[in-house]
Amino acid sequence: MSWWWKGALGAALKKPEENGVNPQNVALIVGVTGIVGNSLAEILPVADTPGGPWKVYGVARRPRPSWNADHPVYYIQCDVSDSKETQTKLSPLTDITHIFWVTWANRPTEAECCEINGAMLQNVLDAVMPNSPNFTHICIQTGHKHYIGPFEAFGKVKPHETPFVEDVPRLPFPNFYYTLEDIALEASKKKQGLTWSVHRPAVIFGFSPYSMMNMLGSLCVYAAICKYENVPLKFPGTKAAWNCYFVASDADLIAEQQIWCCVDPNGKNEAFNCSNGDLFKWKHLWKVLADKFEVEYEEFDENQEYVSLSERMKDKGPIWNEIVKKYNLTETRLEEVSFWFADLMFGWECMLDNMNKSKEHGFFGFRNSENSLISVIDKMKGYKIVP
Ligand SMILES: NC(=O)c1ccc[n+]([C@@H]2O[C@H](COP(=O)([O-])OP(=O)(O)OC[C@H]3O[C@@H](n4cnc5c(N)ncnc54)[C@H](OP(=O)(O)O)[C@@H]3O)[C@@H](O)[C@H]2O)c1
Repeated sequence: MSWWWKGALGAALKKPEENGVNPQNVALIVGVTGIVGNSLAEILPVADTPGGPWKVYGVARRPRPSWNADHPVYYIQCDVSDSKETQTKLSPLTDITHIFWVTWANRPTEAECCEINGAMLQNVLDAVMPNSPNFTHICIQTGHKHYIGPFEAFGKVKPHETPFVEDVPRLPFPNFYYTLEDIALEASKKKQGLTWSVHRPAVIFGFSPYSMMNMLGSLCVYAAICKYENVPLKFPGTKAAWNCYFVASDADLIAEQQIWCCVDPNGKNEAFNCSNGDLFKWKHLWKVLADKFEVEYEEFDENQEYVSLSERMKDKGPIWNEIVKKYNLTETRLEEVSFWFADLMFGWECMLDNMNKSKEHGFFGFRNSENSLISVIDKMKGYKIVP
């Protein structure tokens, strides 16, 4: 647990104004129910979080889910791809000092992704910049696809060498991450004193059931189904993915790095990788996952035919509904679980990054990836997302 995290657990947190305290900073989290948005919503309101006390606004489209409702955040239901709605709902806010951009939209082509994600960010900036005179920093979360290109570019463009370092040239392929960076840079040129930071995580270990890409979420569901059907937990990936080194990024750690960039001058106008600072192999974490769900662990079998997780799970909807009912879980649908993302991760190998730049600039946060995996699983169980 990080040093500024300690107040969060179990404490009935209130908004600063409810405690009679004037907030020092005011956050707008765009994507507040997402994998990192939910961590920000949890960490920012804690009294000793750097830059605090923070008043926090959080935006997402769906109604607020129960697992997000305890965070002392002003929840705003708004579709930021709709410019009118964004103006209507966000322009009345006049006290925003920091934006945390932890959202995205997927489209069939990367050109369309550039268009929609760029429009979403621009809509929010157009609503906030003229109305919040103290707006001073924007954190943009992107990721490793900065270095390998978007999914569509695989096989078409030569990725950067791993371990990835931040200051390499852009790849010659459209990428909505580049669009977001350009828009943030442009905004900072228009408003004196406005700074930005870019955060590039690897695969994120985090909690949110509303995330479009939650690898651990899909593995937990898979493990719960294996347990229910009394079959061993087979690894649904390649031999290379079983044996090679991986890095991951704990969602709370990413939130901490973003907050650090908000308060430390060394974090301004820079892009940073953000991974846990250790290496792991799936062959080791697989045992931990199996133990957490009390399901039989199985070594990778060289002779087994490759069957993706999506394929394994495609007919399991009725089984999952039975599990949800039997264990009185929070309602979730199997179609919404991102098995496709786990398949992608288990098809890759050796996607490592380098954390030197972040450390050299003064952010020393780290996580033990095995503990991160365990704490995410415990949280999923605690909120009754999985049995
Ligand atoms: N997840 C990973 O493992 C991972 C790894 C590396 C990089 N990244 C990158 O990180 C960035 C952020 O992704 P993420 O995975 O953190 O997001 P996420 O977990 O999928 O969360 C997205 C959040 O944005 C909200 N949202 C989506 N569309 C919206 C809209 N039009 N208006 C308002 N809110 C909207 C969602 O709630 P509603 O659906 O209710 O609106 C949700 O709260 C992306 O660029 C992604 O590529 C992610």
